[in-house]
Amino acid sequence: MKKINGVIKAQQFDKETIDKIFTTASEMEVSPPKDLMKHKIMATLFYEPSTRTRLSFEIAMNKLGGSVVGTENAREFSSAAKGESLEDTIRIIAQYGVDIIVLRYNQEGGAERAQKFSEVPVINAGDGTGQHPTQALLDLYTIEKHFGSIDGLKLAMVGDLTNGRTVRSLSYFLGKHYPIKQVYFVSPKQTKMKNDIKDYFDKYHIKWEELDELDPIIGDIDVIYQTRVQKERFKDNPKIYEEVINASEKLIIDEGCVNKMKSNAIVMHPLPRVTEISYNVDHDRRAMYFQQAQNGLFIRMALLKLILAE
Ligand code: CP
Repeated sequence: MKKINGVIKAQQFDKETIDKIFTTASEMEVSPPKDLMKHKIMATLFYEPSTRTRLSFEIAMNKLGGSVVGTENAREFSSAAKGESLEDTIRIIAQYGVDIIVLRYNQEGGAERAQKFSEVPVINAGDGTGQHPTQALLDLYTIEKHFGSIDGLKLAMVGDLTNGRTVRSLSYFLGKHYPIKQVYFVSPKQTKMKNDIKDYFDKYHIKWEELDELDPIIGDIDVIYQTRVQKERFKDNPKIYEEVINASEKLIIDEGCVNKMKSNAIVMHPLPRVTEISYNVDHDRRAMYFQQAQNGLFIRMALLKLILAE
């Protein structure tokens, strides 16, 4: 397996590395080594809000015996508020002697820019509408744990597919490494999946289809990957945002919808959820989103081990 020198985008991984991450995550679920990160320091720098990604990375580091420094809301609480560039901020943090930087940035390409100015590994914790590769790793880990294999499955990615970075990273992983049977992109017409992803699936001969409703496919799919309308990406287009919210109403996953699904199918969501999955679905055994979020802790522990201790 090639050494992992940071996590910037899904396309950087080969299958051997992905499998090693999953094996390591399984080990972390059972017995996380308590001193593995002793004397290691992780800096978390979040220019956009986060609950799961930041806290699971920070808890992962703490559970493995390391330390965490950082700032949430970096656009307000770091010197970015005074006009400092991302590049200068990263250069300074890296030279203070941290071992790894976890960065969520508000523009696509932020992690790639940061890695160029950092002597230490950078992990992309989401870069605007670009990618969220560690989320996709935990998504794949969740699917593989449930089904035993991802190959041959039918998936539906649902919601704001234009602005959702999780579905983009997930698609880049799936297209290259997993011979799935079919992908459905289910979205309002204003938030369709971008062409780079469709071209990528074409390149790897994965069948895809676009729909604006779930009903025709609901009984036939294995995985529904629901996403939220990314309100923060519509600040300059409130009218389109309203249109998307209205068009998304028929994509809400409620009890009636889940009852039409196969018994072994699963409902996933990167979270946070707003209204796109009804709360009364949470009790159904097919609701996988909370386990999915928990798997993020194990995947992030695994990444810390493979990046800093191998
Ligand atoms: N899934 C995810 O990235 O959640 P947070 O925004 O809470 O980190």
